[in-house]
Amino acid sequence: MKEKISQIVERTMAKIEKLDSAKELNDLKVEVLGKSGELTLILRSLKSVSADERPVVGKIVNDARVELETAFTDKLARLEQIELNERLMKEKIDISIDRKRPIGKVHPLNDIKRKAIDFFVCMGFIVTDSPEIETTYYNFDMLNIPPDHPAREPQDTFFVTDNIILRTQTSAGQIRTMEKIKPPIKMISPGRVFRSDEADATHTPCFHQMEGLVVDKGITMCDLKGTLSSFAKHFFAEDTRIRFRPSHFPFTEPSVEVDVSCVHCGGKGCNVCKGTGWIEILGAGMVNRKVLLGCDIDPDIYTGFAFGVGLDRITAIIHGINDARVPFEGDIRFLKQF
Ligand code: PHE
Repeated sequence: MKEKISQIVERTMAKIEKLDSAKELNDLKVEVLGKSGELTLILRSLKSVSADERPVVGKIVNDARVELETAFTDKLARLEQIELNERLMKEKIDISIDRKRPIGKVHPLNDIKRKAIDFFVCMGFIVTDSPEIETTYYNFDMLNIPPDHPAREPQDTFFVTDNIILRTQTSAGQIRTMEKIKPPIKMISPGRVFRSDEADATHTPCFHQMEGLVVDKGITMCDLKGTLSSFAKHFFAEDTRIRFRPSHFPFTEPSVEVDVSCVHCGGKGCNVCKGTGWIEILGAGMVNRKVLLGCDIDPDIYTGFAFGVGLDRITAIIHGINDARVPFEGDIRFLKQF
């Protein structure tokens, strides 16, 4: 009987080694260790073995059973491992692909805006924010532009209601600031503004301005010129000159348009400055007495200057962008150049 058992073990071990499917392995297990399996039958036949031999043979059968069971379990585990490895190889996901996603950059317009803010903050200005959806009261009335004033016409905009509009200028922020803070005031207010202009190479219905406002005792046009001159030199080149041309804004008196000497030709005249040697970058002036009065600031004690820089224009000049629409399109080929 011993002989028979070791034959069964040997034969089964050899088969286990060869088999490479879990199902066949299970079938074999049933064949040998199942209810009516070879080894089980031997165990049952122990009854016919003499009482003193029984424990010995019993132990041999049990040892054989344990040995085979271990072999089955081991092999099954190995098969499962192989199968798992194959599946993992097949279903491999390359998570590194995520890392190849291109890293974005600051939009040239925001880059210029941040540099402009930095400059004025270094000069002691505070940065204020003001709503893009604005009332006609702040956007026009308080800036000395009453309902029928012709200055409203070039600033036609998008109306939410008759009195609520998308602001046409950051100048509305001047009023909001002067209502909250009393002089001395030194503030800038950058942001989006809107006008119902058809988009073309020089117009977009949304663009960006940065308002500046200084109100204190004894502020004069010299302060305005000095501030803007330093700004232009910081932004463009150390030898940049500025010039004031008379202009009109209802909320400043006197008013000026400010040009910088062309950064591309140094003032000789080129395509960028259309042969004039100068490029217009902002509107400015001394705060109108009526505006100060409206904000409860005594114009006999305080004077001030204000300016509104076209940030898109400065960006276009610095980077040589010749179509105002392009920075808004989000075209990766454009953005990659910066
Ligand atoms: N708000 C004016 C514009 O949009 C610019 C400006 C600002 C002029 C401040 C004078 C003072 O054209």
